[in-house]
Amino acid sequence: MNTVMQRMCFAVLFALVTCIRMPSVTMGSNISSTPVPSSDKGVDRVLELHISNFTEVVSRHDFVVIQFYAPWCTHCQRLAPIYEDAAALLEQPSSHIVLAKVDVSDPANEKLEGNVSSPSILIFKSFDEGFHQLTDFEDAKGIKEFLAEASIPSVIWFNKDATQRSYASKVFASHGDDGLVFLFSDHSVLERDAGEDSSYEAMERAYKQAARDYRGRGFRFFVADAENGQKAMEYFGVRPAKQDVPLSVVVLQGKDGKKYKLDNANATNLEAWLRDYFGGRLTEYFKSEVAAENESGSTVRVLVADTFESMVLQSSKNVLLELYAPWCSHCQELLPVLEEVSRSLEATDPDVLIYKMDAIANDVPDSRFQVKDFPTIYLYSAVSKNVIHFDGSVYDRNKQGILSFIHAHKESTSQSAHPTTEASMSTAVTAEESVLSSVNEEL
Ligand SMILES: *[C@@H]1O[C@H](CO)[C@@H](O)[C@H](O)[C@H]1NC(C)=O
Ligand SMILES: *[C@@H]1O[C@H](CO)[C@@H](O)[C@H](O)[C@H]1NC(C)=O
Ligand SMILES: *[C@@H]1O[C@H](CO)[C@@H](O)[C@H](O)[C@H]1NC(C)=O
Ligand SMILES: *[C@@H]1O[C@H](CO)[C@@H](O)[C@H](O)[C@H]1NC(C)=O
Ligand SMILES: *[C@@H]1O[C@H](CO)[C@@H](O)[C@H](O)[C@H]1NC(C)=O
Repeated sequence: MNTVMQRMCFAVLFALVTCIRMPSVTMGSNISSTPVPSSDKGVDRVLELHISNFTEVVSRHDFVVIQFYAPWCTHCQRLAPIYEDAAALLEQPSSHIVLAKVDVSDPANEKLEGNVSSPSILIFKSFDEGFHQLTDFEDAKGIKEFLAEASIPSVIWFNKDATQRSYASKVFASHGDDGLVFLFSDHSVLERDAGEDSSYEAMERAYKQAARDYRGRGFRFFVADAENGQKAMEYFGVRPAKQDVPLSVVVLQGKDGKKYKLDNANATNLEAWLRDYFGGRLTEYFKSEVAAENESGSTVRVLVADTFESMVLQSSKNVLLELYAPWCSHCQELLPVLEEVSRSLEATDPDVLIYKMDAIANDVPDSRFQVKDFPTIYLYSAVSKNVIHFDGSVYDRNKQGILSFIHAHKESTSQSAHPTTEASMSTAVTAEESVLSSVNEEL
């Protein structure tokens, strides 16, 4: 996929996340909206915890970082300002990272520290492995970067939950070139015929495991159900499940923008499929709309990814192809122009076909046809199969300009058409002759 397109798609996904509206500010936000300390100067951003409130604070937040220190420890003294600075760097409205400290020289707090020697920094999180010990850091930036990454779970739910949304926002905002893996499932349908340990749960476990296994390779794993993930389903071209067939589809989009799809994903085939991806053994997937009816009264034919091969690549004619976006006003203005071009060619030049394809709902399954902007127009020549880009700085984007472009690059199929006609005529003659001769033989 073209990088412009890729970046745009990322922006679309990011918008999906940020645009999902919360029902209200208060609902479901107990966790995520908990004290982001005020940004006033001099305010201690690192919470001081004590045996009396430790458990309460840790259980109330999804991600708590705790420094165990003793006032007399010089290493702790060196670390303290770095830790404060990290807290300041991490402070932002969407941050769900809480930094705290515990004074282990207070005898009451000793048992909190367990077997950890101070100074040490421990992370308590409500997801993944749940617990993590931080290695030593030289500066606040290092701590910040480590925490920013560690505070994103390996599996993010693509839904309306504020905390999950903040994870997704982080990923889309700052990890634009990460690969993406989406599991689309219809949990409710799957549960209908399953007991406690349903195939869905097995699937989810396998998925979480894969997420942990492949995290280091720059892949982000999401789970979306049919209800919350509609936009993402559209983006990846995943169609809703039919009646009683449960939806269980995994789509992977690599860092290069190429997509791969696993239909009927289950706990067993998922791991092998991912191995095949990293082994370069999968076939690329192109999202496609269902082949559309040609619009009545229109001579511009509707193309989808699934029909690209047969209608463009294998066409014996010259194909003028408009790649458009539904929301692009220039594309809408171009349509009546294409109709005129098409109608004027129909009479004079049957060697040229005009197609249009929604390049948002369909991937172009041939990398020679890059979507540079909207609309992008190409001519695919009939004989030598050249892909020629319509350059708006050379030709006007009106009827005359497009006709000139076509005439400059189209190839005559008459050489191939005439012999074919002659060939078929001669075949007809031959057939007639053979009938005659067989009749003659019978006589
Ligand atoms: C949010 O707080 C309310 C009451 O304060 C409680 O009933 C509800 O369960 C909490 N929700 C979450 C997700 O913790
Ligand atoms: C926890 O308790 C200690 C001791 O009572 C107190 O100094 C500290 O401010 C409390 N921290 C929070 C976050 O409530
Ligand atoms: C402390 O270490 C001992 C021995 O290594 C272990 O048995 C114990 O479970 C540890 N305690 C904690 C709180 O981690
Ligand atoms: C998983 O799907 C594969 C087909 O991809 C199938 O052969 C296998 O039986 C399925 N496994 C389970 C546990 O359903
Ligand atoms: C649209 O028209 C083209 C060209 O005549 C044809 O090949 C294609 O099958 C038509 N599509 C549908 C869905 O009828």
